[in-house]
Amino acid sequence: MADIYINVKKKLGKINREIYGQFSEHLGRCIYSGIYVGENSEIPNVNGMRVDVVEALKQIQVPVLRWPGGCFADEYHWKDGIGPKEKRKKMINTHWGGTVEDNSFGTHEFMELCRQLGCKTYVNGNMGSGTVQEMSEWVEYMTFEGTSPMADLRKANGHKDAWHIDYFGVGNENWGCGGNMRPEYYADEYRRYQTYVRNYGSKIQKIACGANADDYNWTRKVMEIAGNYMDGLSLHYYTLPNETWDQKGSATQFEEADYYRTLKKTYYMEELIQRHSGIMDSFDPKKRVGLMIDEWGTWYDVEPGTNPGFLYQQNTMRDAMVAAINLNIFNQNCERVKMANIAQMVNVLQAMILTEGAAMVLTPTYYVFDLYQCHQGAELLESSINCGKIETEQGEIPEVTQSASIDKDGKIHITAANLLADQRNTITIHFGEEIPKELYIEMLHGDIHDKNTFENPECVKKERLKESKIEGNCVVLELPPCCAIHLSCLV
Ligand code: AHR
Repeated sequence: MADIYINVKKKLGKINREIYGQFSEHLGRCIYSGIYVGENSEIPNVNGMRVDVVEALKQIQVPVLRWPGGCFADEYHWKDGIGPKEKRKKMINTHWGGTVEDNSFGTHEFMELCRQLGCKTYVNGNMGSGTVQEMSEWVEYMTFEGTSPMADLRKANGHKDAWHIDYFGVGNENWGCGGNMRPEYYADEYRRYQTYVRNYGSKIQKIACGANADDYNWTRKVMEIAGNYMDGLSLHYYTLPNETWDQKGSATQFEEADYYRTLKKTYYMEELIQRHSGIMDSFDPKKRVGLMIDEWGTWYDVEPGTNPGFLYQQNTMRDAMVAAINLNIFNQNCERVKMANIAQMVNVLQAMILTEGAAMVLTPTYYVFDLYQCHQGAELLESSINCGKIETEQGEIPEVTQSASIDKDGKIHITAANLLADQRNTITIHFGEEIPKELYIEMLHGDIHDKNTFENPECVKKERLKESKIEGNCVVLELPPCCAIHLSCLV
């Protein structure tokens, strides 16, 4: 049993749309074959982008897309990816699987993808192995409207108008794959590089490389030295079912104890946000700098028989619960969390979409993003929960996760999940003095192992929940095990 209390009169701040952001890297089959198949492909495409994938992503209103990495970003030299495709340099993607990167997807193609998706752009620059000049020229190439060497080059390459960059990342994981730097060194370099990320048109929000999970020292040093020069500080935290990177565990073969351990490790996100935010508060009490969780999600062993460097994994209802928990946590911390980008959009890690040739399946995680899109741009409402606890091998977690918001039309949205693997749960939602009306509830549920495959692509999908009743100021729901919902109503 769970009681959720909503204070419809108390708004706690805007839930930035970018919290529902995505990440696409030149890694495995994310960009190539997952999103981009080229103009001459037999797979239906518009300017090289798969129609099926783009249409599916439009349904969940992707607000922002991060590109080109990840670790790839600090090895990427943008000039290799412009101009006539047949002349573009080929290179080995040394970091991810040793495949040939033909650079056929570059800056113009990324901007075209964002145009088709109707989303904001988040470009990640190369600080690890690139120069200040290279980064500065990329920004000039993309955003300078007038006459200049880089703007003229863009025009010569067929794009007259400047694009807009909404977010620009100065390096990625510079404590690791992005150069193995110490925080003091990174912070000084960040100050230097960001100086030349010029605002030629509308303002670019600059994002500094943030901590690896609980590296609080990184956050402290980077905020102290460079906090005044950034708009956002990133944070990366992945949910691994096991402790070790060489035996992370299977995406599909797991026991109930593994399921609960995974959820417990997901809840660690709450502590990470609170502690990193606390440090940021001491340098930035007005919360001007956003915490950008630009890599999050589950990370398992790759699917048997696939290239270990491609990070291809299946996606089950366990992943749906991980997404449901994380997104509620981000909503509830929207004062500081201004963006989050799940890793990654297609065919890599906790993906929305899996593809095989011309076929595509939507994952359980996709449907959670579908259920939760109601919160994009809405105002967080004060809410609290009283529910039973689940004992996991690593401590307790609540049986139910939730968050609530009110949109610009006055509609209330509640997203919740019953995390119990095999028991139904009665949820009572209390609306204070208000009487809920015009109830609409959609849900996703299944066995913890349920997944969509190319043979059975609709095993998990969204459906209406009809077993609910309004009792005075409350809504009472019977949720099946392992179930996420979106409830909307007016009061
Ligand atoms: O998302 C996969 C990789 O994880 C990214 O390239 C890197 O930033 C992180 O370590």
